[in-house]
Amino acid sequence: MASWRTDDTDGSGPHDLRGRRAIVTGAGRGIGAAVARALVDRGAVVCVVDRSASELETWRNAPVVQVAEDLSADRSARRVVAAAQRELGGVDVLVHAAAVLKRTPFFEVDYEDWELHIRTNLRSTFFLAQECARVMRDQGTGGRIVALASDAWWTGGHDGSLAYAASKGGVVTLVRGIARELAPLRITVNAIVPGLVDTEMLRGQLSPDALARQTAAIPWQRPAQPSEIARVVGFVVSDAAEYMTGAVFNVSGGLLMY
Ligand SMILES: NC(=O)c1ccc[n+]([C@@H]2O[C@H](COP(=O)([O-])OP(=O)(O)OC[C@H]3O[C@@H](n4cnc5c(N)ncnc54)[C@H](O)[C@@H]3O)[C@@H](O)[C@H]2O)c1
Repeated sequence: MASWRTDDTDGSGPHDLRGRRAIVTGAGRGIGAAVARALVDRGAVVCVVDRSASELETWRNAPVVQVAEDLSADRSARRVVAAAQRELGGVDVLVHAAAVLKRTPFFEVDYEDWELHIRTNLRSTFFLAQECARVMRDQGTGGRIVALASDAWWTGGHDGSLAYAASKGGVVTLVRGIARELAPLRITVNAIVPGLVDTEMLRGQLSPDALARQTAAIPWQRPAQPSEIARVVGFVVSDAAEYMTGAVFNVSGGLLMY
């Protein structure tokens, strides 16, 4: 049977990114790593960001700029974007995939849980977008900003992920507001909403029973592979998606339907 998949990774199709300068956070593993690979495959020059050099081990000897930075720290966004601007000569694309999910039962959630999720997942989204937008504004050539949200933004989360879910709800709210701010500068701002994706974040803290229960709720009957999310990001940052901004792309195998 013919496949419907059109894998536009030779860099020559409508999703060509040659000449684009991209920052991808959380690029050490999982979805961020797959996104960075997809962007490199399409011809972009990429700055990969993760919390430490050891997290970026997979990129050793690869033709990318590596920046180790804890994105929950004050002014980390400024340092990341300054490094990318210096090393790449500018910034055209930001894909913010770095995030944490620490599952905690409702009655045990404490102030540290809130700090962790809000600083890492939500506050970083604002300041990375702000810093990248400054550079894009000065370049005068538009840009693309993509934030990874989660199905939890819509459901409120399952299995002890309430603070995470709230941070991702905030990410969607930010994407919508920033999209309106930056549209006159021809910078698109969009959210990608995966359902379940086969990464350490999914498998790390869920019991086999909870994983089976969550998987059973997916009409497509399996979690996504990171590359399946990366392909959608590749489209959203391409010229083909020029007129799409403030959108919340549901890529969940039917787990969510909106
Ligand atoms: N895996 C899923 O099922 C799923 C579902 C919905 C949404 N998402 C979202 O997709 C994105 C990627 O998730 P993933 O599954 O690849 O997760 P992951 O845990 O496998 O990878 C996350 C990466 O972010 C990095 N990171 C975490 N905190 C950081 C910090 N403070 N500073 C710098 N880097 C940091 C980690 O080191 C890691 O490399 C996240 O935003 C996540 O919320 C994932």
